[in-house]
Amino acid sequence: MPYAEINNTRLHIRQRGQGPVAVFVHGYPLDSTMWIDQLNGLADIRRCIAVDLRGFGRSMPVTGEPLTMEQHASDLAAVLDLVSEEQADIVGLSMGGYVALAFAELYPKRLRSLALIDTRAGADNEEGKAGRNAAVERLLADGRSAMAGGMEAGLLGPEPSPAARARLRTMIEGCAYETIIGALAGMRDRPDRTSVLDTITVPCAVMVGEFDAVTPPVEAEQMADVIADAVLTIVPRSGHLAPIENPPAVTAALRSFLSS
Ligand code: MLT
Repeated sequence: MPYAEINNTRLHIRQRGQGPVAVFVHGYPLDSTMWIDQLNGLADIRRCIAVDLRGFGRSMPVTGEPLTMEQHASDLAAVLDLVSEEQADIVGLSMGGYVALAFAELYPKRLRSLALIDTRAGADNEEGKAGRNAAVERLLADGRSAMAGGMEAGLLGPEPSPAARARLRTMIEGCAYETIIGALAGMRDRPDRTSVLDTITVPCAVMVGEFDAVTPPVEAEQMADVIADAVLTIVPRSGHLAPIENPPAVTAALRSFLSS
């Protein structure tokens, strides 16, 4: 089932392994390839499903409309329907974490566990919203390669591996302009979901790269403090994209979490 027709679009889906379903939700402006190490490393304990969110990766292109966290969450629920699974472990990185929290709010009974990686629950402040609008202007004026070059230092830790740099550039440079514009609007307008953290009663893991400058460790610690019994992992040698910067550490932390 590499492609699924759902909710009036076509999503591209990567699957590995057998067992209870774990859904992996990528960040912005990334795609499901960011989870390849985790899919390969966890296939013996989970049916791992990594979705290219609406408009991203190999999913059906979009035309620039806002890509909301709620729409992505509804798409994930439809994927679970398609594979006849009532519940899943949801693993989200950054924007994928925003989607995971929207899923937790909209479909709490469908959540078996939650892993929030390099993400936050709060909304954009006014400066953040202005930054999203400026990013659209910059993209249209200077193009995607310039954007990728500008983003790299902010997203990756101080000494990124050549593989992490290559994977990041490949994903950003493969992301359609319309998707970038839609995602920026969707993230800019997403609501504050801090109050959702109090409602999470399923097992929860919070992970963050030690050098994450976008959603820093202090924010992850605050999130983990609020969620009942959350397990916090600081991922060494990583910035904001821990699953591609230190794949073995993230896979090991997920394995231990999902096996517990
Ligand atoms: C991401 O990695 O998904 C983004 O940094 C999220 C954001 O821009 O808020």
